[in-house]
Order: sequence, then structure tokens, then C-alpha cells
Amino acid sequence: MEMTETQAQTSLDQLIGAYVRPAVRRQRPYHVGGVPDVTVKLNQNESPFDLPEALKRELIETFFEIPFNRYPTEQPDVLRHALAAHVGHDPDGILVGNGSNELTYTLGLAFIEKGTPVVLPRPMFALYETVVKLYDGALTSTPPRPDLSFDADALLDAVRRKRPALTVLTTPNNPTGLAMTMAEVEAIVEAAPGFVVVDEAYVEFAEESAQPLLDRYPNVILLRTLSKAFGLAGLRIGFLMARPEVVAELLKARLPFMVDRLAEATALALLRRPDLLAERVRIIKGETDKLTAALRALDGVEAVPSQANFVIFRTAEEPKKLMARLAEAGVLVRDMSGYPELRGYLRVSAGTPAENQAFLVALKNALDTKA
Ligand SMILES: Cc1ncc(COP(=O)(O)O)c(C=O)c1O
Repeated sequence: MEMTETQAQTSLDQLIGAYVRPAVRRQRPYHVGGVPDVTVKLNQNESPFDLPEALKRELIETFFEIPFNRYPTEQPDVLRHALAAHVGHDPDGILVGNGSNELTYTLGLAFIEKGTPVVLPRPMFALYETVVKLYDGALTSTPPRPDLSFDADALLDAVRRKRPALTVLTTPNNPTGLAMTMAEVEAIVEAAPGFVVVDEAYVEFAEESAQPLLDRYPNVILLRTLSKAFGLAGLRIGFLMARPEVVAELLKARLPFMVDRLAEATALALLRRPDLLAERVRIIKGETDKLTAALRALDGVEAVPSQANFVIFRTAEEPKKLMARLAEAGVLVRDMSGYPELRGYLRVSAGTPAENQAFLVALKNALDTKA
């Protein structure tokens, strides 16, 4: 006898309830949201600069040379060596991923099982909490100081009490743009019994990097991305730096063939142009500083100092309403209210000078016309 629609639905619900892991069922899919047809897109900390057209034309030649029917190498070895030369690290201590987010999942798979202690400061790039929860880890998160900076003492205390297998720091931090001092990072690395992942997605814009710690401590893992300063968010390339012995273990946990031939070729072309990267970083840093100063000059607007390519700010206005008014003017920013510590805050990425100007004009109008 055929099932009724209600019976079929019940049986599907039971199937999902019985066999999808509870840690997965409890999650929500990642969703950035936003308005599709904005002209000024400043909501994802992307670079405002695409590859120069001449470089894209060069890559068209490569497009014809790449055999699309053939798998790439298991790991993108040419890119791995080029990245090693770029950052000055042992190529065997580098693992390249399909974006650094993909490597975060590999870290979860390698280090976290049910009840594994993990320590994170708050507010923190939300993906880390998701990964800890997906792998059923035991999460301890420490609150920031009142000015939203990292509370290194609280973190140290949590590390000493919980003895975490994994501690994750993001510096400069997304969502705040604030950085930890390297003395603070080192104190945590020294106290942590397990691995300390330092996500340096925004390091090109920052004053300091934790890279020197790699030589001194075996438990340090750095995550980098080509999605921000390099402007390759659409191609998905990130990488991890650690001791070769650690990378050798992580290689056992990860999928092969994660970086495709086109992405590898594009990253290689860009790595051959360090001048271009330096120039763009200089412009973006300048624009971030100008944006911060312009926000602070507005009545009733508070902006947090940033070492990244974005700024968070708050006004007396309700963020959702403000976002909607900005969207009407074609400007998309990000509402940070989902982070309990950041209620009332919006985040704006540094765009081109013209985009930032458009944002500032739209913001002034939105604040002037508030009901
Ligand atoms: C702290 C942090 N890590 C990683 C990423 C994403 O990196 P990827 O594009 O390499 O996956 C972001 C992007 O917003 C980020 O803010």
C-alpha cells in the first residue's frame, strides 16, 4: 500500500532524526545574506580589486594549456613551493586548501572528537565555533575586555584550567579588526598543552605576525588566505603553516585534489607580482584608516580601530534599519548583532575610494533622515 503524504513526511523526519548526527542537525547552514543587486558591496571583507585585466588575459593562455580532463596533483605542489618562498617557510610545513575555511574542517577532523576541550576567545569568526560543535568538542569561550580587545588573561586562565587540545586565535580578529600583541600570543602558545591555531587571514594589513613563533614552538599552526589582500576570494585558496611533522599528520585527514588547476595557476601568476600585492595592501590600509577617521568624525558614531581591511562601528540607530537604508542607497554592509558582544554594530569592508565615499554619503543621509 502506498504511503500518504503525511506518512511519507513522518518517515522522512524519523529517518533524519535517527541517522543524521545530532551535532549536524543542531547547526544552521552558513548564510551571508544580503541584497543581490547592490552596487557597493562592502559586506564580506573582500578586496575591492579584481586581477588586472592584463593578468587575466595571460591566464586565458593558461586556460588552453590546462587539461581539464586530468586530475590535478593530490596537493598543489608548485603552488605549495611558491607560497613557501613567498612567506619564507619550509615547503613541507605548508598545506594548501580550498580556502582556509576548508583547512579549518581538516583541523577539526584531526584534533576534535566528542568532549575534546577547545578554547576560543569571543567574539570570533563564527566558523570555528561551528566546527567545534560539528565534531562534538567541549567549547570554552572567553569574553573580550569592555573595549572589545582580547582579554589575554582570561584566555590564559581558560587554557590553564581546561588544558585544551586546540586553542584558536584570530589576529587581527574578524569581527573586531583588533589584534593581539605577539607577547600575548606567545604567552598562550607557551601555556597551551595542545595546538594553538593562529588565523592570520588579515595579516598583510597588520603590524605583526605570529610566524616567528613557528620556529620556537612546535604547537603553533598558522592559517593564511588568498581571499583578502590577494583578492582571490572567488577562487578559494588558503594555506596552513606548521612544522612538517604536523602537516604530515594533517595530510592523513584531508581530501586530495582540493585545489584545482585554474586556481593554482592564478595564484602562481599573482605570486609572481609582489609589487601588485604591496601596492594594493598600501591602498587598502590607507582606505581603512580614512574610513575609520570619517566614521569617527560623524556625530554619535563610534568606530573600533582596525588592523584589518574592515571597520566595525555603531550608531544610536538600530543596525537592521540602518542596513536597510544603506541597501536602498545600493550599499551593502554586514550586521554584527548576531555576536552577543557586538549588538548594535555594523561592519564595513574597505572598498575603493569611490565605494567608501558612496558608503559615507549613504550613511550620513541615513542618519540624517532617521525617523
Ligand atoms: C578570520 C577569517 N578566517 C578565514 C576567512 C575565510 O578564509 P577563506 O576565504 O580562505 O576560506 C575569513 C573570511 O572572512 C576570516 O575572516
